[in-house]
Amino acid sequence: MNVFTTSAEVHAWSIAQKRAGRTVALVPTMGYLHEGHLSLIREARKHCDCVIVSIFVNPTQFAPNEDYDAYPHKEDDDIALCEAEGAAAVFLPNADEMYPRDASTWVEETVLAKGYCGAQRPIHFRGVCTVVAKLFNIAAPDVAVFGQKDFQQVAVIRRMVRDLNFPIEIIRAPIIRDEDGLAKSSRNTYLTADMRKRALSLSRALFAAKAAVDAGERNAAAIEATIRETVTAEGWIPDYVNVIDTETLTPLQEVLPGTSAILLACRCEGIRLIDNILL
Ligand code: PAJ
Repeated sequence: MNVFTTSAEVHAWSIAQKRAGRTVALVPTMGYLHEGHLSLIREARKHCDCVIVSIFVNPTQFAPNEDYDAYPHKEDDDIALCEAEGAAAVFLPNADEMYPRDASTWVEETVLAKGYCGAQRPIHFRGVCTVVAKLFNIAAPDVAVFGQKDFQQVAVIRRMVRDLNFPIEIIRAPIIRDEDGLAKSSRNTYLTADMRKRALSLSRALFAAKAAVDAGERNAAAIEATIRETVTAEGWIPDYVNVIDTETLTPLQEVLPGTSAILLACRCEGIRLIDNILL
């Protein structure tokens, strides 16, 4: 497996793969890899001949009060995991490699990025779109794989790809959870044992909501209220809980099974978790 630290190396490698008739998939990550990330590599391998995993904690998607400096790292383990999953290359740039000191260009999606996580984190998706657009230009993939875990992120990136004519197919891979239901996240490492136990209320509330919808419930306000009660009872404060349309992300009053999802974000003692479920 190749480990690259410069954009030029990655670009040359990717172009050489394509000239040799091989297709290339990109899996962008911020490292501290877990089973959720690895599932994306596996999904990418189904679609393309070679997979490149990028590992870069992107400073521009963190606000000054967020956890950029505390974000966990374990590069050596990450490289070994990528190799074990059959990735062909890892791209591990540093911030100077990714951003010229006087960089002054942003990529901003202005509609889907506004609500939900974008409301609480106003510069977040601008940073995500900018770094992902750069990674697309650097790695020139045929396919890029993102997790449903960050539902709004995939929607924003799909819109960016459509609007800016990136010749890249975007795949959304399902959420990988711990056995007890907690969605895997690099940030779960911040949870104390007690908080983690109480964090199970997030997935439990979403599963119960899905069961209610399967049993005929269609009233979004009732579903959202029950979820809020469940997580609040366990000490998690909802930032948002919304039944939404999966394409436009607009809030719905009535569930339309097949095209609806529930998105939620909750906070507890400075830690913020997100989760979602398709209905
Ligand atoms: P990161 O949080 O490291 O996530 C990288 C990818 O892994 C994202 O597509 C995310 O949705 C996916 N992922 C995380 N947890 C998952 C889980 N439990 N199941 C399935 N997929 C999961 O998202 C980012 O990094 C960054 O914003 C990035 C796109 C790399 C841009 O900097």
